[in-house]
Amino acid sequence: MDVQKNIIEPHGGKLINRELAGIDREEYLEKCKSLSPLTISKWIISDMEMISNGGFSPLIGFMAEKDYQSVLKYMHLANGLPWTLPVTLPVTKEEAKSINAGDEVALYSDEGELCGVIQVEEMFEYDKLEEAKLVYKTMDDNHPGVKKLFEQGDIYIAGSIFLVNRPSHKPFEEFYMSPNETRKMFNALGWSTVVGFQTRNPVHRAHEYLQKTALETVDGLLLNPLVGETKKDDIPADVRMESYQILLKYYYPLDRVRLAIYTAAMRYAGPREAVFHALVRKNYGCTHFIVGRDHAGVGKYYGTYDAQEIFSQCIKPLFFEHSFYCGKCMNMASLKTCPHSADDRFILSGTKVREMLHEGITPPPEFTRPEVAEVLIKGMKQKGEG
Ligand code: ADX
Repeated sequence: MDVQKNIIEPHGGKLINRELAGIDREEYLEKCKSLSPLTISKWIISDMEMISNGGFSPLIGFMAEKDYQSVLKYMHLANGLPWTLPVTLPVTKEEAKSINAGDEVALYSDEGELCGVIQVEEMFEYDKLEEAKLVYKTMDDNHPGVKKLFEQGDIYIAGSIFLVNRPSHKPFEEFYMSPNETRKMFNALGWSTVVGFQTRNPVHRAHEYLQKTALETVDGLLLNPLVGETKKDDIPADVRMESYQILLKYYYPLDRVRLAIYTAAMRYAGPREAVFHALVRKNYGCTHFIVGRDHAGVGKYYGTYDAQEIFSQCIKPLFFEHSFYCGKCMNMASLKTCPHSADDRFILSGTKVREMLHEGITPPPEFTRPEVAEVLIKGMKQKGEG
């Protein structure tokens, strides 16, 4: 089955897959034994997973300087595709001494588990203050994203990656789905419009309200809570996961909602992260994405609607059904809302209306406002006379 049928295209047109399997994986497992090792943080491991499962499509690795600078300054990749957050692999100057462009480096977790490989294409120094200012809109190291940035290594290593071992998502492994899997699932459910909901919190009544309002107009809801790294005082993911399941069980139409974990780290980058979250959910097959108040915000670093205003830089189409006046509804209605028969509906073609106006006949008030009809008839008459 073509898994992308009926579903929105992945960002950049193609769902990336950098997860090694079968014989390729066996080969790399062997090869990694002789590659130079590098220990990476949980955050980087989660980015590796998101790149390799296609969540971060079109990225195939950690950003080179050209993309990094373009994302920082213009919120687009160097090829012109919208992208708002850097996805980079920082190393210390000490670690960088034993890495060269052209090397393949094996990447391990703190616990010594092999995660994957980077094919190093480039290494570059970067300006932390500039990144903080542009990405987080602050250089205050009380901001959790800025704090992380200031603490990390001074050199970025860039290049394409392969995932050899997918990180464990215990105790909620059963809720892990790759973008390819969610796309397949939406197809199987027959959902052609799907709204994605990001949260790092328990779902409270306002969240529920937004989701259910969206459900009035789309086919399904993907509740996609972030379970990657968050700041210490956020409610832990395992507690939240339990609360989501209870809430869905008692208060949601179960055939119209699916729960799947979003495994990336929380950046707290407000508006830029809102766009990033939306693009990633597009890769998961969501056609819509909810952005409420202070999305991905923290403290008082962003305004309540900053994360919405950033979207106003793009034009947003509003699609409507064929609408008409229905005598039985006694209102304007559409095929989606009117249960009555065609005989009850006032539907006039443009040609018919023009004919009526030419003949000085006022179209019915169900079709046009009488004051407007009057102006039109007068105008047409003058034109005819002139
Ligand atoms: S976060 O990932 O954006 O930090 P959070 O759980 O705070 O997660 O919010 C999830 C979504 O709900 C975001 O789009 C946020 O803007 C929206 N939201 C949260 N609370 C409210 C609220 N009271 N009114 C409107 N939108 C809200």
